[in-house]
Amino acid sequence: TQLLHIVQNMPKAELHIHIEGSLEPELIFALAERNGVALDYPNVEALRAAYDFHDLQSFLDIYYAGASVLLKEQDFYDMTAAYLAKAKADHVRHTEIFFDPQTHTARGVPIGDVIHGIHRACQEGPVSATLIMCFLRHLSEEDALATLDAALPYRDLIIGVGLDSSEVGHPPEKFARVFARCRELGLHLVAHAGEEGPPAYIETALDVLKVERIDHGVRCLEDAALTRRVAAEGIALTVCPLSNIKLRVFDTMKEHNLLQLLDAGLVATVNSDDPAYFGGYLNENFVAAFESLPLGLQHAHQLARNSFTASFLEPEKKQQFL
Ligand code: HPA
Ligand code: ZN
Repeated sequence: TQLLHIVQNMPKAELHIHIEGSLEPELIFALAERNGVALDYPNVEALRAAYDFHDLQSFLDIYYAGASVLLKEQDFYDMTAAYLAKAKADHVRHTEIFFDPQTHTARGVPIGDVIHGIHRACQEGPVSATLIMCFLRHLSEEDALATLDAALPYRDLIIGVGLDSSEVGHPPEKFARVFARCRELGLHLVAHAGEEGPPAYIETALDVLKVERIDHGVRCLEDAALTRRVAAEGIALTVCPLSNIKLRVFDTMKEHNLLQLLDAGLVATVNSDDPAYFGGYLNENFVAAFESLPLGLQHAHQLARNSFTASFLEPEKKQQFL
């Protein structure tokens, strides 16, 4: 339809994409072969067949297994270059890419190889791209602090830090000290909150970590006072529709609350999260949402606009897109 055509072709920013979640099964097998890494699956089809998740943890287990083939700087480059080509095809003009260094340093990969490989692809890339380093919340705050220390030589290659992995039982306040240090370093701050975890996690991400955006945040609407506050403060939510269905945050796309978030005056954006695992890149997320929800042209424009407003682009660059 005309609306879907407009949605797919409009310029947009992507603010919630885990680069390790863009690793397609074909590239996983190619890198496994190149690096001599053994996989638990005989072929691409068997691996893809295992992409049958019922919650966040069942996804994370297979996502970390897939990332185990990443060993060399070139591997990180190849993965990132493949994602940026997909983003370009979806009319993404700017993307803020998450990466999980601890997933790789735990296997002995130097953090410099991780950052340089991703950054090199971003510099050559066909779209504007910046990097957000995420801490794994299932690990300790000490581990996060050590990771921050190890990343300090590359401080200028990242624009911010985030918090991801298993949410329930690992509230934002567990990372109060490391986020305070990142804040002193002038890094932008974001955190996953209110995906599987309760609205209280959104509140402590804001109050304790002092984050500027909330990743997912869809459970915000369960708390009316919190919803009013997030709207009043203009805190953006980086919503990931296909992810939310695959991980059963909502049973079906028709039940997704994207429209309610917009109607509540929240700065909601649409993003792909882990496109190789959840059935599509950014445009597939837009199409899935627009096909199932009563969203119109005004919503399309609002979502595109929100994606740039909520970005960490410098004001002059941001203005070019608004
Ligand atoms: N939530 C938490 N951790 C993650 C996700 C997510 O959606 N994707 C990759 N790591
Ligand atoms: Zn995510």
